[in-house]
Amino acid sequence: MFKLLLCCLLLTIDGGWAFNHGQDLVDFQTYKENFTKTYPSTSACNFANYYFIYNRNQVAQHNAQADRNRTTFREAVNQFSDIRLIQFAALLPKAVSTVASAPTDPPPSQAAATSFDIITDFELTVAVEDQGVNCSSSWAYATAKAVEIMNAVQSANPLPSSLSAQQLLDCAGMGTGCSTQTPMAALNYLTQLTDAYLYPEVDYPNNNSLKTPGMCQPPSSVSVGVKLAGYSTVADNDDAAVMRYVSNGFPVIVEYNPATFGFMQYSSGVYVQETSALTNPRSSQFLVVVGYDHDVDSNLDYWRCLNSFGETWGEEGYIRIVRRSNQPIAKSAVFPSALA
Ligand SMILES: *[C@@H]1O[C@H](CO)[C@@H](O)[C@H](O)[C@H]1NC(C)=O
Ligand SMILES: *[C@@H]1O[C@H](CO)[C@@H](O)[C@H](O)[C@H]1NC(C)=O
Ligand SMILES: *[C@@H]1O[C@H](CO)[C@@H](O)[C@H](O)[C@H]1NC(C)=O
Ligand SMILES: *[C@@H]1O[C@H](CO)[C@@H](O)[C@H](O)[C@H]1NC(C)=O
Repeated sequence: MFKLLLCCLLLTIDGGWAFNHGQDLVDFQTYKENFTKTYPSTSACNFANYYFIYNRNQVAQHNAQADRNRTTFREAVNQFSDIRLIQFAALLPKAVSTVASAPTDPPPSQAAATSFDIITDFELTVAVEDQGVNCSSSWAYATAKAVEIMNAVQSANPLPSSLSAQQLLDCAGMGTGCSTQTPMAALNYLTQLTDAYLYPEVDYPNNNSLKTPGMCQPPSSVSVGVKLAGYSTVADNDDAAVMRYVSNGFPVIVEYNPATFGFMQYSSGVYVQETSALTNPRSSQFLVVVGYDHDVDSNLDYWRCLNSFGETWGEEGYIRIVRRSNQPIAKSAVFPSALA
């Protein structure tokens, strides 16, 4: 593997290696500053520098293809560009459901519109969160955002306060909060415990540098949280149901396989998953589907999904994923469906 990478690197950089090396060091220095990177040792830093150069070249090659309309999305250097794809995949292990689902009746819904976007059609201002690189916490971030957006729609509040993913991590993680937990655990906590209100982030701050969940804090007497009465599930592959619920103002959480170079470095356009990533995924990232439409540039239908890699990742924190029947988005799909 190592030899293969080295080989690719030398081939890509060819005769200009000696000359470019100085520039690469400058670029890596800028990268470290831009993404406030620190490394525990010189050797860790050298590896990061090496993979940064490799990944940056891969990104440049991909974008050259995008310039020739041979791919429908673009990539960019981001917080993950100093690690290998297999490390990225290992950061986000495959989710394992540890709790029985206790969904309630699905909410009434009307037929889906041709296109819809909960964020833009309801003119919501929703902050994008960054889960960091230390804890596989998308299950908590996606649930907090879905509850926040659903509550904003139902209460006609275009400026909702961010709700605390940290509270879900600390109180509903059950020992796997930074590894393999699912949104179901968070939704069961919010619906089954009578005193489980989801608090605003200002009252229960997120801390994305933690490697493990913290202690579940007692509710603050001044904080006003959101109480959930129920949630619903969508059968795997039932994209028509996802579309209908999104079109009715319910953001739907889905499980997605993030372990591809294209997802790791995604920056814009309509992302089409490599077919190799569709079978036996070994990684999980939970995304919140907020809309769907047709993209004129690529002539592709897409889902618009909110991720939790910060607002500099993707399209201001969102990714548009191709919407087609042989690549269904409905996977372990679940959504908050009723407020208490
Ligand atoms: C790529 O597609 C866009 C939109 O379809 C078009 O405007 C552009 O000219 C194409 N570029 C090339 C190099 O074919
Ligand atoms: C987050 O946790 C780290 C590690 O415990 C701590 O050093 C840091 O101060 C915390 N940050 C915030 C904003 O609480
Ligand atoms: C946790 O993440 C922060 C950046 O978000 C990083 O500086 C720190 O080194 C990480 N800690 C560990 C133990 O990986
Ligand atoms: C710094 O990072 C941002 C995204 O976080 C990117 O848009 C910008 O181009 C980067 N700047 C440099 C000098 O790399």
